[in-house]
Amino acid sequence: MRLGILGDIHGNLEALKTAYQTAIDEGVNKIYHLGDLGGYAPFVNEVVDFLIEHNIEGVQGNYDEAIAYDRVHCGCKYENDFQAKMAQLSFEWTKRAVKEKSKDYMKNLPFSIDLNVNSRKIKIFHATPVKNNIYWYEDRNEKFFLLMAQKAKADVMIYGHTHLPYFKKIGSFYFINAGSVGKPKDGDSRTCICIIDINYHDIKVKFIRKNYDIKKVVDAIIESGLPDYFAEKLVLAK
Ligand SMILES: [Fe+2]
Repeated sequence: MRLGILGDIHGNLEALKTAYQTAIDEGVNKIYHLGDLGGYAPFVNEVVDFLIEHNIEGVQGNYDEAIAYDRVHCGCKYENDFQAKMAQLSFEWTKRAVKEKSKDYMKNLPFSIDLNVNSRKIKIFHATPVKNNIYWYEDRNEKFFLLMAQKAKADVMIYGHTHLPYFKKIGSFYFINAGSVGKPKDGDSRTCICIIDINYHDIKVKFIRKNYDIKKVVDAIIESGLPDYFAEKLVLAK
């Protein structure tokens, strides 16, 4: 069984198109998205339409939940006041731009998806199995990883939210952060597609990075009235 995982898309339609085509070219059996469909780039409605059109199932991110329920805050973490101000502008922009149809789609996304593949229990969620806005970085201690595995009641956990891809095996548990399709933060601005092979004896994970029409998205961010800051961030992948 080969899965294609599309992490945090964040309104980046061009990256999504390239990531989707890459997954198809890799011969995946099924594609899932990890939520956080809007924010920072302008194509929130187009991203939702694309997912519906291509039958891509997925889970609800903190950003989707906040947009769908008209919250006052996106539930994101900031490093300083300037970043907080920029993020709030993006959140307000997205709340104004989002269509009812997209909100309904986000509202109806499940918190998690359970799969059973080759007798392995797989759980897909946005950030952690208990809360959708905790940042589960690779350098969290082993105790945290194992606690999450216990909460998930799964052998394989697939998630995103940090925009930093990693794959870790502890004992018999597999932890896969799929990275971000539309807003990588690891210094590599190319889109990130996570391909997972689930076999009887092992699990193989690869992260494919692909160039996409980033210029088109940069121009669209600037034209949209979103802060130029997000165009810069997209290019720097920070
Ligand atoms: Fe998120």
